[in-house]
Amino acid sequence: MVTKEQLLHAVRHLQDPEFHLDLAELHFVRDIMIKEDHVSATVLLSVEDEQYKRSLESQIVKAFQQAGAGSVHLRFRPLSEFDRNEAARKLQESAVEVQPADSAVRDILDPASGVHFIAVASGKGGVGKSTVTVNLAVALARMGKKVGIVDADIYGFSVPDMLGIEERPELVHNRIIPVERFGVKVISMGFFVEDNTPVIWRGPMLGKMLRNFFQEVNWGDVEYILLDLPPGTGDVALDVHQMIPHSKEIIVTTPHATAAFVAARAGAMAIHTKHEMLGVVENMSYYQCNHCGEKDYVFGRGGGGKLAEELHTQLLAQLPLGAPDNHIAEPDYSPSVYKAESETGKLYMDLAQQVIAKLR
Ligand SMILES: Nc1ncnc2c1ncn2[C@@H]1O[C@H](COP(=O)(O)OP(=O)(O)O)[C@@H](O)[C@H]1O
Ligand SMILES: [Mg+2]
Repeated sequence: MVTKEQLLHAVRHLQDPEFHLDLAELHFVRDIMIKEDHVSATVLLSVEDEQYKRSLESQIVKAFQQAGAGSVHLRFRPLSEFDRNEAARKLQESAVEVQPADSAVRDILDPASGVHFIAVASGKGGVGKSTVTVNLAVALARMGKKVGIVDADIYGFSVPDMLGIEERPELVHNRIIPVERFGVKVISMGFFVEDNTPVIWRGPMLGKMLRNFFQEVNWGDVEYILLDLPPGTGDVALDVHQMIPHSKEIIVTTPHATAAFVAARAGAMAIHTKHEMLGVVENMSYYQCNHCGEKDYVFGRGGGGKLAEELHTQLLAQLPLGAPDNHIAEPDYSPSVYKAESETGKLYMDLAQQVIAKLR
């Protein structure tokens, strides 16, 4: 029979979005009753958000069941004034805990590390989220910044291919060294699967995988880490919000009204979990004629602006349609990186400049 300790241990990977400590430590999972294989418990919520609640419910149920529970019944209730004070006290206590001896390896997730995290999200796939992540990262590196990408689109990883990376990361002193390309350090799920086989990860494993991307990787000297999130508002996006509460967010959309509408949900999630919005990037905004220079708004107009307005943030860039003019014979070939001197390359430099200014 599963024990209370095992159940509490099983939710250790789940962080509360407000207090950034795990739910067991905060005593936010309590009144655990075990009757044969049926488990019931009360869960305290710091955030009033139906979507967060549902996602948390499924994560706790999964975690309990992996620990050995059969059926699970959870009751939810908001924090009382008293609970809130208790949680704040625990947070203070944990802040003064001594650092581990192995401080040579800095914890880049610690806000005190000074690393800026930028999560790039979208409502749906295919809008250019990865293209924007990769080109923004390269533009930051072109401006002399030290940049990393975590390809957190665990099922739909594409960053290595986009950058033309063929090598795999090396292990040094038991730590993974990211692969560097155009001055950008890259870690991707794609490095750890054979022959492009699909990977099936379950909720808790996903969170662990993601944590490994930060803690098992020697990022060295890095100032900005961009995260290419999976599209939508699933487990990984939520994990990122919980794991890196200080991460800022960019939402990518196309100008089409429905795309912007779907993207608003990803934005709403960031706002609910108190992530600061850097702004919206509208991709595939127009097609510019090579000959006459006229802009043709093939996918409609205004989606990005409307989304930015809705999220009370800025429209940071409008990027035209058109693949980079790269050729496989070039020594540094990459399918998706725009050259610095190209029109789109310049727009990405401008985007990078805005991002730097906003994070200063
Ligand atoms: N501005 C653009 N013009 C032309 N093709 C683009 C543009 N942005 C992205 N693409 C292409 O569209 C496809 C989807 O882009 P991708 O960045 O993979 O989207 P996501 O990560 O949102 O799924 C890719 O083949 C990419 O090369
Ligand atoms: Mg992608």
